[in-house]
Amino acid sequence: MINFNGKYALVTGGSSGIGAAIAKQLSKEGCNLFLTGLGKDQLEETKKACETNGVKVYTIESNFADYSSIDNMVEFVKSHNVGIDLFVLNAGISQRAKAFDTDFATDQKIMQINYWGAVYLIKKFREEIVNAKHTSISVTTSLAGLFGFPLRTSYCSSKHALFGFFESMDLEYDNVSVTFLIPGRINTNISKSALLGNGESYGKMDQGQAKGLNVDKAAKRAVKAIKKKKHRKLIGKYELLMAHINRYLPRLYYVLSKHISPT
Ligand SMILES: NC(=O)c1ccc[n+]([C@@H]2O[C@H](COP(=O)([O-])OP(=O)(O)OC[C@H]3O[C@@H](n4cnc5c(N)ncnc54)[C@H](OP(=O)(O)O)[C@@H]3O)[C@@H](O)[C@H]2O)c1
Repeated sequence: MINFNGKYALVTGGSSGIGAAIAKQLSKEGCNLFLTGLGKDQLEETKKACETNGVKVYTIESNFADYSSIDNMVEFVKSHNVGIDLFVLNAGISQRAKAFDTDFATDQKIMQINYWGAVYLIKKFREEIVNAKHTSISVTTSLAGLFGFPLRTSYCSSKHALFGFFESMDLEYDNVSVTFLIPGRINTNISKSALLGNGESYGKMDQGQAKGLNVDKAAKRAVKAIKKKKHRKLIGKYELLMAHINRYLPRLYYVLSKHISPT
């Protein structure tokens, strides 16, 4: 079991939702934090909440759709001369449009933020990770990273791709442990910022999202799994059954997935 007391974590998507809740949970365990996201005010809000637990918290805005913005963030983190013990690669954006209704530019944007952003960031820490005794990497994927789901072609693709990259990396380096967090439906604003085919925000709170698992409960389960170096952790409610149905009863998965509301 890893003890994060006095250590440092970098949390992407730390401004809201699952990332902010994981940051708060880590701060309760005495873990110092670098938080990054798009929203400055939200980052400051999370910082304040975490600081009440007596840890050091640094925030910096970073847009994962822009490599130079990731470069600036990495430079900021490295300027503090502390090793990052845990990377929480969590920033992400969803989708609400069918394949042929989604512009290619929108497909690329989703892959850029969800997949290439995470890969680009982790490679920027090559020297530090290769030479460290141990580094934990938590990757927030999704149930939609285990199988296909309507209105999520590029979102699913980006989450599948994260599995491929980071599972391979986990196998390659003995001093790295990767935990895949696999949320089902968690009550956050993820549907609001989801992209329509033309790249505009969907802007609605989906029913499925609203009825999802409480985000603090999700974060508690996530941090416990990371500490235990679990390879995969499903987090959610009854929707998690779909992971088992997809694996063991694939025909039933097709029937159900066509009928479950994707919103
Ligand atoms: N909620 C669910 O049911 C669910 C299910 C499966 C997987 N997930 C995954 O969980 C992760 C966190 O999502 P959430 O549910 O917590 O939703 P959320 O509250 O919308 O959080 C998404 C986070 O990603 C950040 N982000 C979005 N676009 C970005 C960009 N271009 N550059 C940098 N950061 C960006 C957001 O920053 P700002 O808030 O500052 O814009 C926010 O901190 C995502 O990877 C999502 O795919 C969520």
